Amino acid sequence: MDFTPVTEAMQPAKDGKEAAVRGWIYRKRGSGGMLFIVIRDASGVMQCAVKKDKVPEKSFQDAEKALIESSVWVKGTVKEDKRAPGGFELQASDFGVTQFSEIFPISKDQSTEFLLDVRHLWLRSQKLTNVMKVRDYATRYFREFFQQKGFWELAPPIITKAGCEGGSTLFEVDYFGEKAYLTQSGQLYNEVFITALEKVFIFAPSFRAEPSRTVKHLTEYWHLEMEAAYYGNEENMKFQEEMVSYVCNKLAEEHPDLLKFFGRDPADLLAIKAPFDRIDYQDAIDYINGHGGKKTYGDDFGAEDEKILTGHLKKPIFITGFPKEIKAFYMREDPGKPGRVLCADLMAPEGHGEVIGGSERIWELPELLRKMKEQDPPLEEKDYQWYVDLRKYGSVPHSGFGLGMERFVKWVLNLDHIRDAIPFPRVINRCYP
Ligand code: 4AD
Ligand code: MG
Repeated sequence: MDFTPVTEAMQPAKDGKEAAVRGWIYRKRGSGGMLFIVIRDASGVMQCAVKKDKVPEKSFQDAEKALIESSVWVKGTVKEDKRAPGGFELQASDFGVTQFSEIFPISKDQSTEFLLDVRHLWLRSQKLTNVMKVRDYATRYFREFFQQKGFWELAPPIITKAGCEGGSTLFEVDYFGEKAYLTQSGQLYNEVFITALEKVFIFAPSFRAEPSRTVKHLTEYWHLEMEAAYYGNEENMKFQEEMVSYVCNKLAEEHPDLLKFFGRDPADLLAIKAPFDRIDYQDAIDYINGHGGKKTYGDDFGAEDEKILTGHLKKPIFITGFPKEIKAFYMREDPGKPGRVLCADLMAPEGHGEVIGGSERIWELPELLRKMKEQDPPLEEKDYQWYVDLRKYGSVPHSGFGLGMERFVKWVLNLDHIRDAIPFPRVINRCYP
């Protein structure tokens, strides 16, 4: 038998024609001699009408017996039918069961915690299936953008000897008796790659031992990181706004129905166009204080501040020029603004918070060594020798950034919680299933 994805069977051209589909029983109702069985496959759902006098006797008995989530196949004739979901129905001439399911543990109105316990089964839901499709499309479009701009994709190590974003969120690994860490960011390795390939990116997991339980923190997330030789902070920001616009626009143009499933108006994402607004760190502090917040110079922004700053916005906004004390050691100080670094955080609109962190990097040896000593506790040169080396052998100015894929998906689909942007979320109290 030749099987067709259900969405292909549900086309006007197929009306009146034979088709066979296979998948899982999504819904089932009926009585007496008539069963309506909605079949789910990777492409979508389709209603199948199984009538007692139209299929072999054994097939009808199996159809009656098969519970929700049984794996099944149906052969029949496609019929346009306004009452069926999607407007088409498959009128069965035969029906078979690949495996009879036991009683599926998930029914309506179950608690979030229970659904997380049975994540391996809940991933079949229409909601998560559609999130994963959007995530995949977004990943393709990001890669497409990088390729169009002449960037090379490389693979960073995940087990590392030194931190990138400060010691407090490092996951320690016992590496055959030696202390090692799960990577917080591939950036320092990206800085190696640019000395050979100039314009590079990586898409790999990053790990943060985040002690906080929030709607935007995972302990394991997928990190899209760019690094480019000869880019200043300005070129870096231009690249980001162009990239984010490209991916948002493509999602809106190619997959409006997927967006609408989540209540996201595709027009919102079509309106995301470079350039994005920018606000200086101090002005952001002043703005927050003028709108009911309480911040002083040197503070970082929390979820409440992000809501004040971006809750009403429709487009992302850059916050620039953070004080060096609250940013990572590798960021280059702004020669025109002592104490501030050449960096930008890209804030998603509607209060979704930071999606990108980026900066110009220190590229000269004395400044890097000075900055490493200034850290509290100071960074040991021996732990970072290879990184320091890069400033000795043909160093060039360079910049880059990192985007959290789950933060991006949470924003574009307006999800309540970041955990639904990744198949198996790892958070402080969960790494199962
Ligand atoms: O701002 P971060 O910490 O910057 C870096 O790691 C740089 N080394 C990146 C670079 O320049 N190559 O992290 C970058 C992004 C954040 O903007 C956020 O989107 C995401 O990574 N992120 C997280 N996403 C989910 N859960 C967490 N705990 C995250 N921490 C950061
Ligand atoms: Mg950041």
